[in-house]
Amino acid sequence: MGSERWYENAVIYAIDVKAFQDSNGDGIGDFRGLTDRLDYLDALGVDCLWLLPFYPTPGRDNGYDVRDYYGVDPRLGTLGDFADFVRAAEERGIRVVVDLVVNHTSKEHPWFRAAREDPDSPYRDYYVWSEEVPDPDPSKGSVFPGEAGGDRVWTYDEVADAYYFHRFYDFQPDLDLTNPAVREEIRKIMGFWLQLGVSGFRIDAATLMIQGKRPGVAVPDDPHQILRDLRAHAVSYREDAVLIAEADDEPSELAEYFGDGDEMDLLLNFVLDAYLTLALAEERAAPIEECLDLLPEVPPGGQWANFLRNYDELNVGRLDEADRRTVFERFAPDEDMRIYGRGIRRRLAPILEGDRDRIELAFSLLFSMPGTPLFVYGDEIGMGEDLSLPGREAVRTPMQWSDAPNGGFSTAAPSSLIRPVVDEGEFGYERVNVADQWDDPESLLGFVRRLIGTRKTCPEVGTADPIVLETGAESVFAHRYDADGETVVLVHNLGSEPRSVRIELGEERSPVGLLGDAAVEDRGGTWTVDLPRYDYRWLRAARRSG
Ligand code: NOJ
Ligand code: CA
Repeated sequence: MGSERWYENAVIYAIDVKAFQDSNGDGIGDFRGLTDRLDYLDALGVDCLWLLPFYPTPGRDNGYDVRDYYGVDPRLGTLGDFADFVRAAEERGIRVVVDLVVNHTSKEHPWFRAAREDPDSPYRDYYVWSEEVPDPDPSKGSVFPGEAGGDRVWTYDEVADAYYFHRFYDFQPDLDLTNPAVREEIRKIMGFWLQLGVSGFRIDAATLMIQGKRPGVAVPDDPHQILRDLRAHAVSYREDAVLIAEADDEPSELAEYFGDGDEMDLLLNFVLDAYLTLALAEERAAPIEECLDLLPEVPPGGQWANFLRNYDELNVGRLDEADRRTVFERFAPDEDMRIYGRGIRRRLAPILEGDRDRIELAFSLLFSMPGTPLFVYGDEIGMGEDLSLPGREAVRTPMQWSDAPNGGFSTAAPSSLIRPVVDEGEFGYERVNVADQWDDPESLLGFVRRLIGTRKTCPEVGTADPIVLETGAESVFAHRYDADGETVVLVHNLGSEPRSVRIELGEERSPVGLLGDAAVEDRGGTWTVDLPRYDYRWLRAARRSG
């Protein structure tokens, strides 16, 4: 299917299978339900699905605690259902990327069981052990401060009579990725899913995979070799396979994850997420410009995967204290909306107070950023969160398909749903659902479909470098991309006041509207764009003929 660089202009849509569509009325979304919804995804225009972990699991971290890497959680279906699904997706030109969670396993994984029971087991060295809590601790601490089992990184195991290392919860022992046997296991896991037809992997916790875990041994000699190996495995099975890394690292460290085009293909752009959020909160363009300066250059073949929201907290931990405070005050005014001191446990639409103009602006900005856009199920219709659910669960409620009971997600009794459907308030399923918006071009869903269609006609955004344009207006971010003699110009007003801005093209070019309806006046290569509050305009700069 298609070229090796297919991902540069893909639109990625993230799905938690168990919360998407239940096909058999047991209250749990499943692969058959997802397969039935492929026509929707096809019509929406997305062409790459990222599936959150769907493997057998005790389910204590939304499936990121894997018990068996070679199976499907029986509640979600069988391997046969999975194969049917991949095939049906492929028939529609939709690719599937799955989560590869090999920084750690579940405590219930047979490897860990064997490891703790027998010091001589070959599986013992799959994990990281210590007789006592090492001092100084080689890690930077836990990823989930303040949560049960997440507030320390060494936990004593009575059976093993030793401490094991875990950067996440205590039920997720870290694998020792310096152990060649572990690396060989990972190769086989990747091969298995690639043979079943997936187009690649989202590499969970890539940053932590390459950090030192063993007391006394700070880091492996060449930690990035771990990631280069993953890529070598993937392309040996399938040339067009991609790896999307969850590399939430310092901006100065990010370039290394791309290697020389021999490591990660895409990096989830956590830095941009934080700065876009700040720009939206401050209603100023400057943070976006600052961020583009901060991000390293991407080698040929490397790409950013840009997003505003995912299934975790919206992490603004990379912003400085004052900026973080601004974001929290504007987008998470109640303490209960915040988490880990660095994040917001809300969805996009409620963060933007359900304001259609602002939601469209945010989507348009996201899709205009250099890279491949990614969004999570439900954001295309403006779903909200459920703050009564614990922690990050708040943003993981079931998809809202219609105003039928349970939002059309399942025919089960509400009490047996995997998670409650949002059923009240402004974002409840009776008011926010696919069925209502489907045939309505004026709906948010209608807009998102147009936006996806427009992005597909602007491959420059996925391949060229952006050039920021002077506008003289603090709230307006304007940029252009040039490639193969073609130019697209994108103008966004992040502010609540209308703005008229002048843009110099540097040569005579006529504006051809692609998206948005703000008025544009052309005077010999100088364009004046009149932007209402929170508005956007996508334009192609056409050469004058004759
Ligand atoms: C990152 C995932 O996005 C998050 O949901 C999970 O808790 C951790 N990795 C641990 O696997
Ligand atoms: Ca089901």
